[in-house]
Amino acid sequence: MKKTVKDIDVKGKKALVRCDFNVPMKDGVITDDIRIVSALPTIRYLIDGGAKVILMSHLGRPDGEPKKEFTLAPVAERLSQLLGTEVVFISSDRVVDDKVKEAASDLKDGQVMLLENVRFRKEETKNGADFARELSELGDFFVNDAFGTAHRAHASTAGVADYLPAVSGFLIEKEVKFLGNAVENPKRPFVAIMGGAKVGDKIPVIENLLKKVDTLIIGGGMAYTFFKAQGLEIGTSILDKDNVNLAAVLLEKAAAAGVTILLPVDCVCGREFKNDTEFGIYPKDKIPSDMMGLDIGPETVKVYGKVIKDAATVVWNGPMGVFEMPNFAKGTRAVAEALAESSAVTVIGGGDSAAAVEQFGLADKMTHISTGGGASLEFLEGKVLPGIAVIQDK
Ligand code: 3PG
Repeated sequence: MKKTVKDIDVKGKKALVRCDFNVPMKDGVITDDIRIVSALPTIRYLIDGGAKVILMSHLGRPDGEPKKEFTLAPVAERLSQLLGTEVVFISSDRVVDDKVKEAASDLKDGQVMLLENVRFRKEETKNGADFARELSELGDFFVNDAFGTAHRAHASTAGVADYLPAVSGFLIEKEVKFLGNAVENPKRPFVAIMGGAKVGDKIPVIENLLKKVDTLIIGGGMAYTFFKAQGLEIGTSILDKDNVNLAAVLLEKAAAAGVTILLPVDCVCGREFKNDTEFGIYPKDKIPSDMMGLDIGPETVKVYGKVIKDAATVVWNGPMGVFEMPNFAKGTRAVAEALAESSAVTVIGGGDSAAAVEQFGLADKMTHISTGGGASLEFLEGKVLPGIAVIQDK
């Protein structure tokens, strides 16, 4: 068990808190603030406990340069609205400079400030010791609550812990509890649903989950690489050529482990990769040579729905089809609905499946939706995440 903010005395202390405010933006406007909202419990706890709160985060990948379009100013504004109190924000190209240090030391108990995008400094992603020390000098202790960035060993996620006592915030605590329990201590039957375009990206996760699940459901673009491995014709469907052999090996491993792998029995195929293309439903062994699979078909939905209904734990990562296009969203929607109706513990890995669940208005029906994309995948692979490893044990 890792220490949390509840295990230390915060009153009158300077809390240096790493959040993941890497939110989607369009023309300088935040289009989804779920990562900011998810950080509020920790921030509010520290405010109420009389700490001086110094927040830090990255936004996008500015490559170590202070690029205006990656400023955290819109996040400071949104945070101020959500907290109902002013969040001090000083946009410094160096992230930490004399003005920033002065503002931090002027904070009163319960006040909050946000530093500029830590990736404005090259040393951040290299976990540079000098930058980590500069950051650490602003605080009395370090709180990591950036689950979405916990798979990165950067100065602000891991390096600062060389200089300050490190505890976790409530978001990391919650993510570890739900993702960790689902995988390590699942109520059975335990079903994992894997989707998305490329098998290559998901192989380590599939390999790890095969050791734990009762059934593995496969959908999305990666299904066609498995079909190829089974010797089926897949028309112009997406193929992860380099991983056909690995897909065959995974099928063998599953059989040897007594794990059922379910592949689609039918697919919705389109002539072109666009919504308003000619499309139809085909059995998996009758995909036309000039068409591509873009969604799972209705028979597959029935089979997958039944398995989900009987499950006690479901972990889902990756959509079943091109859900951004309405004609090819039905499979992903049906799986999301099956999860919403099920009484199982339902855990949604971040990224596209989280976006899909949000899009269908079903987010509040899930047990837990991770705020981590890459981080939740690495967690499901069974890897130790550096941003969690640095947190002190209880
Ligand atoms: C994410 O969105 O997955 C995290 O914020 C990490 O971002 P990164 O992939 O740029 O490190």
